[in-house]
Amino acid sequence: MDSTLHSNRTNRWKKRPINPPNCKAPFLTFFTILFCIVFFISYKSLFSPSIHQISTNSQSDLPLQCTATSTTGSLEKFLWYAPHSGFSNQLSEFKNAILMAAILNRTLIVPPVLDHHAVALGSCPKFRVLNANDLRFKVWTHSIELISERRYTSMADILDLSSLMSIAPVRFIDFRVFVSMWCEVNINLICSEDLSKHSSLIESLRQCGSLLSGLNGNVKNCLYASEEDCRMTVWTYQKDGEDGILDSFQPDDELKKKKRITFVRKRRDVQKTFGPGSEAGSASVLAFGSLFTAPYKGSESHIDIHESPRDRRIQSLIQKIEFLPFVPEIINSGKKFALQTIKAPFLCAQLRLLDGQFKNHWRATFQALKEKLDLLKEKGPLPIHVFVMTDLPRINWTGSYLGDLAKDSDAFKLFILGAEDKIVTDTAEKLVSTGQNAKFESLVNKLDGREKHCNPQSLPDILLFMEETVCSCARLGFVGTAGSTIAESIESMRKNSICLP
Ligand SMILES: *[C@@H]1O[C@H](CO)[C@@H](O)[C@H](O)[C@H]1NC(C)=O
Ligand SMILES: *[C@@H]1O[C@H](CO)[C@@H](O)[C@H](O)[C@H]1NC(C)=O
Repeated sequence: MDSTLHSNRTNRWKKRPINPPNCKAPFLTFFTILFCIVFFISYKSLFSPSIHQISTNSQSDLPLQCTATSTTGSLEKFLWYAPHSGFSNQLSEFKNAILMAAILNRTLIVPPVLDHHAVALGSCPKFRVLNANDLRFKVWTHSIELISERRYTSMADILDLSSLMSIAPVRFIDFRVFVSMWCEVNINLICSEDLSKHSSLIESLRQCGSLLSGLNGNVKNCLYASEEDCRMTVWTYQKDGEDGILDSFQPDDELKKKKRITFVRKRRDVQKTFGPGSEAGSASVLAFGSLFTAPYKGSESHIDIHESPRDRRIQSLIQKIEFLPFVPEIINSGKKFALQTIKAPFLCAQLRLLDGQFKNHWRATFQALKEKLDLLKEKGPLPIHVFVMTDLPRINWTGSYLGDLAKDSDAFKLFILGAEDKIVTDTAEKLVSTGQNAKFESLVNKLDGREKHCNPQSLPDILLFMEETVCSCARLGFVGTAGSTIAESIESMRKNSICLP
């Protein structure tokens, strides 16, 4: 429940330079460009001269971003939110964000994959979480950092959203494209070596981010920055008689006294609160804070929307987002590793041994694996092929059950994947430079009308995603670490048979 405990691995990024030819890799990905196409049209109407005239005359006291957007109330409306913690958390928040965007009929601003625990929320059960404005500004700052350090990967680079594209109410826009438009900056210049352009750009981005995060308050028709969080709100959708009632989980008396907590947790219908007719409903941008939720003491910590019997579109969306596969590049090379390197049927062992809560449970974690392997050993044939994914470096295996397995080469043949392995780096390179992008490039140039400096300089760390894929191909079974979100994610991939041809 404590979101800081849901983590995967450190070091999300390797500072690994790409070979020169790949530097031509277009900075914008296929999805980004899809969004650009959509956007090119809105962009022109948003900032056409006539609109600028109206806004400068009548609303000069409003922030720049709002003067343009507030006069175009009928135009596209956006949803932003603040993901955090490890990748598994970010993924579950992304799914919730898709759901919220669909319910509220807003275009979802697709965030980057944030560095592992670069941003932390805190603990909902302990009523100790970062407030939404500060959380958003942290996420903003980190996202801009990822762009300027040229190691930005969009969630849409990792996840295959194509099955959602066919569902009418879901629309996406890349964070970078949104920032370029909303902040009226050329985000690409942030990677420019020309420092004179730099400092004013950094300053306008800081101002824009602070505004968007809600640090300056809401702006009518323009921005609604929600301050609701898991301490006070559990979101529901179309549940009769639940809007406004108290949630079953409240801070207990001891906590209230000790921490002087004043929060009262209410269940609220998200559409009634933020939909048409509400103050938020008319805002061009609606910003949520964390969209993390987890079951807790018979309730949900923040979002309790698991079905929607009266809204069939949302119902089918809920089913679709339950499992979002990785992009085909990742799936295919994970399969290839299983087929061409491991070759035989194998068992997958996912062992979380170092991070946080997992440090103290080595015995239990190894016990489950030992039981499974003893069974397989009885049945034969030997050696048993085992794919191991663990955060314990190989040099540290000695003295543990893993060390014993590695020594017993008659009975076991072990396989691991490393971030530097060619199949991993090749796949990462493929992700940042696909041929698909080339044909859209001229259009992106038109949108930007300027040179690009932000071509990726290092490869995204996709090891975890590849390992999960390999594990979903393990025909002899899967042994995971109890309580690990990675294990959950592998179980769900296996259930969805992503490894079938
Ligand atoms: C949803 O938003 C789009 C574009 O912003 C708009 O054209 C459409 O009418 C909206 N749909 C509903 C059901 O409000
Ligand atoms: C792993 O081994 C290295 C080198 O022997 C050592 O410095 C490090 O502390 C070990 N780490 C763990 C988690 O045991």
